[in-house]
Amino acid sequence: MSDQLRVITTEDGSSSIYHEGLRETYHSFHGAIQESQHVFIKAGLNYWLSQNRGQPVDILEVGMGTGLNVILTLRAQLEIGFPVHYTTLEPFPLPENVLQAVNYKELLNHRVLSELFDRIHELPWDQEVSASLEFNLEKLKTTLQEFATERAYDLVYFDAFAPNKQPELWGVQWLRKVHYLMKPGALLTTYCAKGQFKRDLKAVGFEVEPLPGPPGKMEMVRATKP
Ligand SMILES: C[S@@+](CC[C@H](N)C(=O)[O-])C[C@H]1O[C@@H](n2cnc3c(N)ncnc32)[C@H](O)[C@@H]1O
Repeated sequence: MSDQLRVITTEDGSSSIYHEGLRETYHSFHGAIQESQHVFIKAGLNYWLSQNRGQPVDILEVGMGTGLNVILTLRAQLEIGFPVHYTTLEPFPLPENVLQAVNYKELLNHRVLSELFDRIHELPWDQEVSASLEFNLEKLKTTLQEFATERAYDLVYFDAFAPNKQPELWGVQWLRKVHYLMKPGALLTTYCAKGQFKRDLKAVGFEVEPLPGPPGKMEMVRATKP
């Protein structure tokens, strides 16, 4: 395992990664699965589906990390059935031994999802491929700053490292780019609810909705492009 990366167990029993160099975890200490499910699936995907039932959804994720948000989106897609195109950006893919050490397959306890968890990590980078029926996955080994596309998105999972670790990604310059990549009516969700971040979202044209956060966190944010 990379000497910078350590697999830890969060309070809901699910794994996360601690990055020694950054002194930062990939998810909330209060629960990795709980946080991803609350912020990205419940407040993002499920809310969007409640307004666009059965419609194909174009998702952009900033920061693939362990692939937890990908696999939870696949779970929702298998349960409900809707076409997904999922673009995920990751400049620093996690090594195989770290991905094998997280316990999401055991906790999700679903044979198909276990196979899909391995599959999403085995699929090639920088190509659009079918991960499963009606789920196209595009894993791009790039940064938000370098990312270029013709595609427009319905939903953005904004899951970068926290603003105190990666301040550049949370400011007006890159939020404006994300806003540009979204369709009218599209949603962005994130675990961060800092005042400056909310002001910057408004400054680039988003409508900002603070929502109750996952367990252990007061608030999260959902932003809509009008
Ligand atoms: C909070 S973690 C994401 C957790 C991930 N969504 C998961 O489910 O495991 C932040 C991720 O953003 C990635 N990252 C770092 N710099 C980035 C950049 N400039 N653009 C996009 N992603 C970046 C990191 O390598 C890390 O994997």
